[in-house]
Amino acid sequence: MKECAVYDFDTAVSRAGTFAEKYEARERFFGKPDVEPFWVADMDLPTPAFIPDALRARLEHPMFGYTEQYRDVFDAIGWWMENEHGAAVEHNWISLSPSVVTSISVAVQSLTKPGENVVVLSPVYGPFFSCAQINGRTVSDCPLTVENGRMNMDFDAVETAVQKPETKLLIHCNPHNPGGRVWEPAELEKLARLCAENGVVIFSDEIHCDIVYPPNRHLSMLNVEIARGNCIVAHSIGKTFNCGGLQASFTLIPEAGLRTRFRAGLDRSHCGDINLLGKTALTAALSPEGAEYKRQLNAYLHENIRQVCDKLGGLDSVEIIKPEATFLVWCDFRKRGHWQDVFKRLVHEANVALSGGTFFGPAGEGWFRINCAHPRAQLLAAVERILRVFH
Ligand SMILES: Cc1ncc(COP(=O)(O)O)c(C=O)c1O
Repeated sequence: MKECAVYDFDTAVSRAGTFAEKYEARERFFGKPDVEPFWVADMDLPTPAFIPDALRARLEHPMFGYTEQYRDVFDAIGWWMENEHGAAVEHNWISLSPSVVTSISVAVQSLTKPGENVVVLSPVYGPFFSCAQINGRTVSDCPLTVENGRMNMDFDAVETAVQKPETKLLIHCNPHNPGGRVWEPAELEKLARLCAENGVVIFSDEIHCDIVYPPNRHLSMLNVEIARGNCIVAHSIGKTFNCGGLQASFTLIPEAGLRTRFRAGLDRSHCGDINLLGKTALTAALSPEGAEYKRQLNAYLHENIRQVCDKLGGLDSVEIIKPEATFLVWCDFRKRGHWQDVFKRLVHEANVALSGGTFFGPAGEGWFRINCAHPRAQLLAAVERILRVFH
């Protein structure tokens, strides 16, 4: 039997010269080109070596022409969903897509008409709003509530929003970014029931579903019985394997009619495929080796999260949401002044670039999100600087 690799997440790896957005866009977004970046949700932890090995092996061949959607890709997705998420997936449910956001946009375009309505539960990943708005759809926002450091859905607000005749789609983040919430079966069932009863499709963005901390367990919408007929589940290797730049994503749609409508949208935009290197990486990642990497990664991130929350939790008048999933910690600085002043102090005094809450919708104003997928020493040094500025 092959010896199991032990992954080193402590050694910092420079991203200089790689055009990483998190670094290159600092001047544009923070006005300070050397601020330490803890914003964009990709990891400063290396992709496991078996992925670059697979890419290198493919690069040995000198031709990079058009590729089929070959069986290994579908087998890898099916294996991962079954073994890591207990979801039995049929190959014909799978559609490839360059990114989850592409799939959200296609869902908006193909399942709703201009002027119709899309429901989101904010604060939530910004493109949930923008994909609807750019396409001329309205958005009903049903803000999550925060109780005892945990986010909850406002089911009354969701019920009102899905009952509107013009509502056709609800985009849900499962697990939740930025709140780090792992939704419980009863919550997902209730949400799915409200959508099913009102003929609203659920787009379940499950891109963060591999980074989940015990005792929490991710439940895919695929395993919520009542959602079977009206859900689209989206996933990708972007977060788990630090492969966002390879653009390798997929959707899973059990119901044939919905799948046909969604695929017609992919075909209209000619975006129902991923590139050759994305396919190579995805096939290598969604494997037993990938599952072992994920286990070690989760253990490392869990400890990072624990230490960051313990330390920031000591700050006066700053509330921290300890995530049950994701490598992101959502922090409420509203009692520490206007968000623009807090932002300036974070950048210019603490030398840290965090994601500002308004990216996640109006409910995010005054909040900041810190990306904890960094070597621990680098992350904790940044947290110490935040503590010194806001003690
Ligand atoms: C909830 C969520 N969905 C989608 C994405 C982006 O995924 P992709 O690059 O596949 O569009 C992110 C990235 O941060 C995210 O947090």
